[in-house]
Amino acid sequence: MPADPTASSHWQALARLATGIPSLTRLLDSEPDRFETQLVQAPGLRVDLSRQRWNAPVREALLALATEADLDRYRKTLFTGNTLNPTEGRAVLHTLLRQTAEPPVVVDGRNLTEEVAAARARMRQVSEAVRNGDWRGGTGRAIRDVVNIGIGGSFLGPALICDALGPSNGPRVHFLANIDGAEATRILAELDPERTLFVIASKSFGTLETRINATTCRSWFLERGGRIADIPRHFVAISTNLKAAAEFGLPEANLLPLWDWVGGRFSVWSPIGLPIALAHGDDSFQAFLDGARALDLHFRDAPLAENAPVLLALVELWNQAFLGTHSLAVLPYASDLARLPDYLQQLEMESNGKRVRVDGTPLSIDTGTILWGNVGTNGQHAYHQLLHQGTQDFSAEFILPLRTRHQLAEHHAWLAAHCFAQAEALARGVDAEQITQELMASGMDAPSAAAAAPHRVLPGNHPSTMVLLDDLGPQCLGALLALHEHKVFVQGILWGINSFDQWGVELGKKLGDRIHEQIIAARGAGDGARRKDATTDALVELFRQVNADAH
Ligand code: F6P
Repeated sequence: MPADPTASSHWQALARLATGIPSLTRLLDSEPDRFETQLVQAPGLRVDLSRQRWNAPVREALLALATEADLDRYRKTLFTGNTLNPTEGRAVLHTLLRQTAEPPVVVDGRNLTEEVAAARARMRQVSEAVRNGDWRGGTGRAIRDVVNIGIGGSFLGPALICDALGPSNGPRVHFLANIDGAEATRILAELDPERTLFVIASKSFGTLETRINATTCRSWFLERGGRIADIPRHFVAISTNLKAAAEFGLPEANLLPLWDWVGGRFSVWSPIGLPIALAHGDDSFQAFLDGARALDLHFRDAPLAENAPVLLALVELWNQAFLGTHSLAVLPYASDLARLPDYLQQLEMESNGKRVRVDGTPLSIDTGTILWGNVGTNGQHAYHQLLHQGTQDFSAEFILPLRTRHQLAEHHAWLAAHCFAQAEALARGVDAEQITQELMASGMDAPSAAAAAPHRVLPGNHPSTMVLLDDLGPQCLGALLALHEHKVFVQGILWGINSFDQWGVELGKKLGDRIHEQIIAARGAGDGARRKDATTDALVELFRQVNADAH
């Protein structure tokens, strides 16, 4: 495990550098070639770091910190057998899912490369059979709708990529994640049971939301004329827990595997990505894997100083630990990437929202990043006001595809213009003097202009990164997600935390089970039903009263 970064002399040097770092405007004006010097090229994308509030000494100190943390060795371990997830006793090998032509990875006598290849072949078979009509429902009709039942990593990645690739050219794909019955009701209302395939996606096959939704969908199917014997024509499952999936009533042929060395939030590359292959074809899915693989090789082999995920991780660490940013706004200028902030929330916040180091000792610095956002330009007419004039420090990541699939070139030019304009405005802002002059030039008298100016000042100095994708094709999308996966990994190494467990989500699940029992307990069950928390008891009682007929 890397040593506590705050004990490093490089950390102390960074703290000193932070006190004297010039404003972004000064950095940009004094280094007119910043775009060229701060642009990092990686397969499928470019990362422009010129509007980050850092300079050469800061970059060097951050790189020295990464070197001291042994990042060079750690990044290589991500591609071979490793023990990077000790608190769950698991290896971390999601990169293996997009690796084809290398020496096989064998762990504990199991040839994992072969297992992955077999699963890929099965995925291809299933997706092609559904798409070309060989896979038919129990009454002989072709599949028109696919419902992916899964949540978290078994939902966010496939949903993001299905959308990002544009309209499906295969079956329509729906995503049922939330336990809210409104979601199941809305989705099922559109479907014909004879023409629907349900994909139950759950690494554990124990996640409550997915279990309940799967059971509801099976009942819906059976209540509308579906026969038990036809369940294998209408349900498949993807899981590490093939036994539980089989108990759901599925034969082995309907089960696609997953492995405990793939974290849920890193699983879109596994059979969990089946909806992508169903909607867009297996070749597209393979191209998505290839794009990620190209980025993997960049991450593994490029020098740290030219390494896109490494620099992205380092600059956000600098922003958060030394410039005091409180959150990261992810601003994709592409409607097709509308789900990207949701996806990155799980990837970054579930991975790195940790309070102890790998050895269990408490951290003395903030980890993880509060990440949020939505598509541009919509956000400009909502929360950008706070970004420009609010009092909190933040950083931003803009994402723009350079080429677009649609033919509306005028729209794309405006979209890009606004993306670039927002990044410039965040960096440079506008000061009182300029505002006053502009107001007076438009005819306002001097006292009125002086009074109006403070309300119109934008302080600027907000750091941002611009990620330029070549396009929204599957390869670039694979690269985009791998870029962020590796960024998260690097940050975890620097902070000395385990990015691959998520124990923090467990208490809520346990309490949810207990409170559910309380909600559905028979009337008059007595004080036994009373629990530890008076507010929860009161809420349960109120809920029971309002829903007296239902429970
Ligand atoms: O509760 C968190 C979590 O375990 C995520 O890490 C995971 O992606 C999600 O739930 C779904 O889990 P599963 O695929 O096992 O249903």
